[in-house]
Amino acid sequence: MPPAASLATTIAGSPLASCLYNASGPVCSTADELDALGGSDAGAILSKSATLEKRAGNPEPRYVETSWGSINSMGLPNEGYRYYLDYARRAQAFGKPYFMSVSGLSHDDNIDIIKALAREEAISAIELNLSCPNVPGKPQTGYDFDQSRVLLERIFEHVDQPLGVKLPPYFDLPHFDMMAAVLNDFPIAFVTCVNSIGNGLVVDTDTESVVIKPKSGFGGIGGDFIKPTALANVRKFYTLLREDIAIIGCGGVKTGTDAFEHILCGASAVQIGTQLMREGVGCFARIGRELSTLMQEKGYPDIDSFKGKLKSLD
Ligand code: SIN
Repeated sequence: MPPAASLATTIAGSPLASCLYNASGPVCSTADELDALGGSDAGAILSKSATLEKRAGNPEPRYVETSWGSINSMGLPNEGYRYYLDYARRAQAFGKPYFMSVSGLSHDDNIDIIKALAREEAISAIELNLSCPNVPGKPQTGYDFDQSRVLLERIFEHVDQPLGVKLPPYFDLPHFDMMAAVLNDFPIAFVTCVNSIGNGLVVDTDTESVVIKPKSGFGGIGGDFIKPTALANVRKFYTLLREDIAIIGCGGVKTGTDAFEHILCGASAVQIGTQLMREGVGCFARIGRELSTLMQEKGYPDIDSFKGKLKSLD
């Protein structure tokens, strides 16, 4: 057997001992939850998407697991950006990067938050969420290419830390080209592909009802079901974006094989959402072991040796 494979990677100039870490969403809202990520094998700590002020989010039930994944309409429940800014100092104890997710409810909110984060060196990078499908009356910015450009123009006038964006899933090939054309015009450090598939509907046939309360049952779909969509988005943006923009894969990662597929499509790191919710922070060690074993069996010493090297059949 060849020597153990390294899962190390670099995102936004920060070294991560493992390319696996949490998606912004499950169990990253409170200091205790963030501490648990810090104490786990996750390569980084990513906060829940922060708004300007604390939010209770949507009415419950708002998260339900299914045999194939999950549906959620959380509605950005979070403690407000000041809380996650304050947590940055505490995160340093874990010796791994602390990334802060920002999801202002308006362009002005985003700018105010970004300005307030400036000069906080304990925030390694910002993940700007352009893709939450769950706030009633607030469309997903990532589906509006002109608005995405307008917002990024304003953001890059003020941002201090490296900044990446979390994108919604795209499905039509021209839409990948249109979003890539926007992103390539900015000094973006990474893109995270993908947020949940917005506005699915899960039906309980016994009760003849929807399963979550907000938005008459409509919510973001995550888990196994979305892996092919996530892989397609990782692959497309890997081929369309500048080489210096890292791709972070997110969607349908339950095993080391799933993470391997994301990296093969071009991901430099892989986030875990639904499976983290199911299994808890132990998922990072288990999936890391599985990924490392698979890499060893295939003779890959590190993720760069197979990243993006997906073969086509022609
Ligand atoms: C939520 O809080 O509704 C989920 C966050 C997201 O999908 O961006």
